[in-house]
Amino acid sequence: MPKFYITTPLYYVNSKPHIGHSYTQIACDAVARFAKMRGEDVFFLTGTDEHGEKIEKATIERGFKQGEEKRFVDEIVPVFKDLWAKLGIGYDHFIRTTDDYHKRCVQSLLDKLYKEGKIYKKEYKGWFCTPCETFWSQTQAQGGVCPECKRPLEKLDEVNYFFKLSEYQSWLVDYINTNPDFIRPDFRRNEVLGFLKSEPLQDLCISRPKSRLNWGIELPFDRDFVTYVWFDALTNYISGAGYPHNMDQFNKLWPADFHVIGKDILRHHAVYWPIMLHAAGIKPPKSIFAHGWWTMKGEKMSKSRGNVVDPFDMIARYGIDAYRYFLLREVQFGLDGAFSEEAFVTRYNSDLANDIGNLLNRSLTMVEKYFGGKVPEGGQGPGARVQKGEELKTKASALAGELEKSVPNFDFMTALTKIWEVINIANKYIEDSKPWTLSKEGKTEELKTVIYDLTEALRIVSVAVYPFMPSAARNIHKQLGLGDDPRTMTLKSIRSWGGIKPGTRTEKPTPLFPRIDSKK
Ligand code: MSP
Repeated sequence: MPKFYITTPLYYVNSKPHIGHSYTQIACDAVARFAKMRGEDVFFLTGTDEHGEKIEKATIERGFKQGEEKRFVDEIVPVFKDLWAKLGIGYDHFIRTTDDYHKRCVQSLLDKLYKEGKIYKKEYKGWFCTPCETFWSQTQAQGGVCPECKRPLEKLDEVNYFFKLSEYQSWLVDYINTNPDFIRPDFRRNEVLGFLKSEPLQDLCISRPKSRLNWGIELPFDRDFVTYVWFDALTNYISGAGYPHNMDQFNKLWPADFHVIGKDILRHHAVYWPIMLHAAGIKPPKSIFAHGWWTMKGEKMSKSRGNVVDPFDMIARYGIDAYRYFLLREVQFGLDGAFSEEAFVTRYNSDLANDIGNLLNRSLTMVEKYFGGKVPEGGQGPGARVQKGEELKTKASALAGELEKSVPNFDFMTALTKIWEVINIANKYIEDSKPWTLSKEGKTEELKTVIYDLTEALRIVSVAVYPFMPSAARNIHKQLGLGDDPRTMTLKSIRSWGGIKPGTRTEKPTPLFPRIDSKK
């Protein structure tokens, strides 16, 4: 079985999750589910980023005392876990940067790099963005604001430990050039190469003196300092896979197939992280995929801007499947997208209530009405199949191949468009073949063919939508009389036409996506 190791970023637990966080989760979950459907041995890692100034500050703001950070994060982590459970995020391991095995891994990495002379101590004078937890050089800090989030920067002047990032610049440029899949999409790779060309890399400040920050992992070689939160958090991708406490597992999983991230944290992942690994003698991950931002009235949706949409609220009102579908279908993964509830409701009513919902409802109603709730024998008699039926069969049988081209490349929009082509052909097939007329005219063989084709197309569609809408997929499968065990929903099962057996007893249809009155 080929292995597939995919990761999400670790989310800061300074407050509740919002749409942006759930976006990365849903995308990774879709790709991980798809890999499982192909028979791959999947390891899907997610978790929380719990140290650093952001968290220390939030602890105090929430009425806890300094030193009570762990108590504070212990209250927030379950909110993330709860949302992931509600959204059907099937991760294999949840890592917290406060976990002991992770802390030990960070310290062993620091120790190794320090002993090898790759970490040294010096006075630091420069700029720091607290919300982004990022250091910026004098040239980058134009006008004293963060080049990333445009918020005011803090000036720092203190003694710290530095990692010799600058020594690896030409190695990294070569690595990116010889591994075109390392940073994706392509335009993000060019962005990183552009940045690496425009100025020399500065060594990375990887410590914070305890006089300024207590909440972090202590440097093993100097207990007066804690580790810079990014050095700590990035290391989760190896500690969560078993480094160094479970090397059998680690050797099986590493290098990771994908780190999926938002574009705002590309530099940390595509520059700091591969260099940290290379310096420690560990291979870089195979690929980093950076997605865009969900915006609200032209601005990035973020907790600090206060323009966030609450995923709990959206799920409560529209359901999990609709939420997952909208995020993956509305915007090309990789680009930014403007969020609006109006667009959400429009897509819900047209794609979900109308297209897929009606197809299921009409088809099952006809199985019930014309064949007593049992799937009829299909494909009987010469000329029985009208042209649309042939098209339906061809397109539905090609879906597995289409998904194989798009889903592993995070091209959810194409994958869903291809599935909806099949759904739309099936709906058109009903209109063209008019089963009610076939029934009236006693053309039973033709009627059987049409109804068989519709149930079979729905079976293929139910399996195809599983990575994106796992509960709706299982629901359709079940209503078709095929049970709701996801283990039966494999890619292999939809590579060819004819999987639903005549005589299968279908259920009375229950609406998948009740229409929303947009005037409400
Ligand atoms: N803790 C760091 C990541 C460390 S990974 C070793 C972090 N956390 S975060 O909570 O601020 O963001 C986590 C992810 O959510 C990032 O990939 C970020 O891009 C994503 N999103 C946060 N807001 C977003 C939008 N408005 N839209 C889409 N995703 C965005 O960064």
